[in-house]
Amino acid sequence: MSGLFITLEGPEGAGKSTNRDYLAAQLRALGMDIVLTREPGGTPLAERIRELLLAPSEEAMNADTELLLVFAARAQHLAEVIRPALARGAVVLCDRFTDATYAYQGGGRGLSVARIATLEQFVQGDLHPQLTLVFDLPVEVGLARASARGRLDRFEQEGRAFFDAVRSTYLARAQANPARYRLIDAALPLAEVQRSLDALLPQIQGLHRG
Ligand code: TMP
Repeated sequence: MSGLFITLEGPEGAGKSTNRDYLAAQLRALGMDIVLTREPGGTPLAERIRELLLAPSEEAMNADTELLLVFAARAQHLAEVIRPALARGAVVLCDRFTDATYAYQGGGRGLSVARIATLEQFVQGDLHPQLTLVFDLPVEVGLARASARGRLDRFEQEGRAFFDAVRSTYLARAQANPARYRLIDAALPLAEVQRSLDALLPQIQGLHRG
């Protein structure tokens, strides 16, 4: 039996967490073994790396440092959570993964795709998500929702140009590989977004059965 690796992506404020919990509940109701997790984080050590990445600090974080921390957390998460869950046949639902690295460190910070791809190969080998849901949202809507939530983390403090690049990287990756990505309009009312998730359930069951 082989597991299924699904990732959820999108900017801040796209309702990823709410929709991730909804999707997990629907899949559990179908009897699936679901492992719900997130990046950066997902293990105690990787969550400590997350704190380093998100905390605003006096000392500016070098973009390569940021990239290496993201992949350091990912290596731990893969070893401790993702690979074991997939090996036992579970469905892993992960809130963000390497597409976020291409979007934020690549698009946002301007690091090259080649540099990111090298680390992706080093840390993941052949392991990639089989399905990636991209929750897409106009940048200003996402930023307004994020600031309404309160104190902004180190990424949320970035400006409009950063998030324009994040969004266009996600959209370009989704367009380049329609077999893996599903674009979801996160600006729609929640009930409609959830209807589009419901429509994906048979496909997810099919992928899991292989
Ligand atoms: P969130 O999970 O609460 O959305 O916050 C995680 C932040 O980390 C978000 O701003 C995106 C950022 N991030 C990266 O910059 N690179 C990555 O590879 C991942 C997984 C997240």
